Amino acid sequence: MKIAVIGGAGYIGSHVTRELLDFGSEVFVYDNLSSGLRQNLFKEASFTQGDILDVQKLDEFLGSVKPVGIVHLAALKAAGESMTQPEKYSVHNITGSLNILNGASKHGVKYIVFSSSAAVYGNPKYLPMDEKHPTEPENYYGYTKLAIEQYLHWYGKLRGIKYAALRYFNAAGYDIKGRISGLEQNPANLIPIVMEVAAGKRASVDVFGNDYETKDGTGVRDYIHVNDLAIAHRMAFDKLQESDSFMLNLGVNSGNSVLEVIKATERISGKKVNYKITGRRAGDPAVVLANPAYAKDFLNWQAKYSDLDTLLSTTWRIYEKL
Ligand code: WQD
Repeated sequence: MKIAVIGGAGYIGSHVTRELLDFGSEVFVYDNLSSGLRQNLFKEASFTQGDILDVQKLDEFLGSVKPVGIVHLAALKAAGESMTQPEKYSVHNITGSLNILNGASKHGVKYIVFSSSAAVYGNPKYLPMDEKHPTEPENYYGYTKLAIEQYLHWYGKLRGIKYAALRYFNAAGYDIKGRISGLEQNPANLIPIVMEVAAGKRASVDVFGNDYETKDGTGVRDYIHVNDLAIAHRMAFDKLQESDSFMLNLGVNSGNSVLEVIKATERISGKKVNYKITGRRAGDPAVVLANPAYAKDFLNWQAKYSDLDTLLSTTWRIYEKL
């Protein structure tokens, strides 16, 4: 199948591209390289440098490729920044997605697999969170993902484009075969920060609070390996050919605390990870866990690589070269 991967030079997009190529799709990457990297591109996939806000360029791209499917991963994703610069998130995430939807509608795209987020749920009202959990985003970033799901719903109804909205929990890890090595610049997420400390690029990691009601007082998250995410995108296209549109959680319902991540990184890397306990970060829940039962039942997807050691060892293999 001809698939356009918009945001395909990014961390998750490059893993999705690799997976689709491995399974025989013809892949066309469109990326503005604002956070994506040339290093993450593959020679088997064609590449167009372009912005989703550049309607003409996007139109030319979709018009010349005529993809059957689109993976849409092009977005800004810093939840904290979205609260201080909402306009930027409105334009890049919402306007950009509408541009993609309008292009998809004009050029006869049949399927869209959308990179959604657990951030659509907001603070957990119960754990683990299933797809019926209320969607009350705590930050504007999460709201943009929810709004885009709703636009997808309407374009599905009105234009017959089928979609899969994949709500990722905490994406982590690197390609288990070591084929992707682009590092995120100025990361804000825990694991890349811990890795930078282990690699000697950063002096220490701030632990945002150790007084939560968790096993060791630090925040617990559901980390999901990026290869597992990539596999789900591939399976979503297969499923859409026989099903209606769907949305589902991608997580593992197994949580790791900040201190567990730090200690396991020390063990795997053989390096000391200095940390200091600071105050809680605003808006952080104590525990976030996915209920992935629907992904298993409906998509027959199950995580294979999302144990903490695989997550951290595949990441360390890339960071140790820093
Ligand atoms: C993980 C844990 C922190 C950094 C974010 C987005 C979310 C989703 C995934 C895209 C928490 C703690 C972190 C640090 C720390 N993104 N931490 N020191 O906040 O769970 O989720 O990424 O859809 O929308 O909000 O991920 O990696 O920032 O934090 O102690 O320097 O690590 O408090 O408990 P988070 P994270």
